[in-house]
Amino acid sequence: MDSFDAQVPQLGEALPLVATDPRWLVIALADLDAVHADHLHCERKAAQSALSLIRSYPDRADLVTAMARLAHDETRHVVQVAQLMSRRNVAASFDHGDDYAAALRALIRPREPDRLLDRLLVFAVIEGRSAERLELLAGALADPKSRELYASLATAEVRHRDIFLSLARDASPGTWRARAAELADLEAGIMQNRTVVARIH
Ligand SMILES: [Fe+2]
Ligand SMILES: [Fe+2]
Repeated sequence: MDSFDAQVPQLGEALPLVATDPRWLVIALADLDAVHADHLHCERKAAQSALSLIRSYPDRADLVTAMARLAHDETRHVVQVAQLMSRRNVAASFDHGDDYAAALRALIRPREPDRLLDRLLVFAVIEGRSAERLELLAGALADPKSRELYASLATAEVRHRDIFLSLARDASPGTWRARAAELADLEAGIMQNRTVVARIH
């Protein structure tokens, strides 16, 4: 087991995300099929994002290994969500895009080394937010198998958040904490200006 597999609770404190609007859970539970359909694509995009970091930074051995493993986890999550949907007799649909992730990606500064730091931290934010919402679902779903799945996915996404935070710390030891706090603040603003919908974000 390498350092990226270890859960490091104190890392998460660097990324204090605001709590989700309580209306979200009510709206999500009222249209679970839509949430699952969106969730499938969230897991797919998480895998693709991890692989895109390998494409951009092949010279960073720690990042390559961590991202390859993370993409592996995410593709397993795609399978798990697909199986859940098939149990519920729900077909997958096309991805309708994710304006939440797009708003966060717009905060990524274009020049290196800022770009690497921001990409890692934006992915950490998305993992942290996803973990919070999957945990909320895990606590509220009626079907025991779905509850169990969502609880395990929430745990995995917290671990992924910490992997991104540890890579960010290693990439920019002097500035990662301040930028993480800044992005957490900016994410709060993005959340505030969004309509609450039956999707993961
Ligand atoms: Fe995932
Ligand atoms: Fe993840």
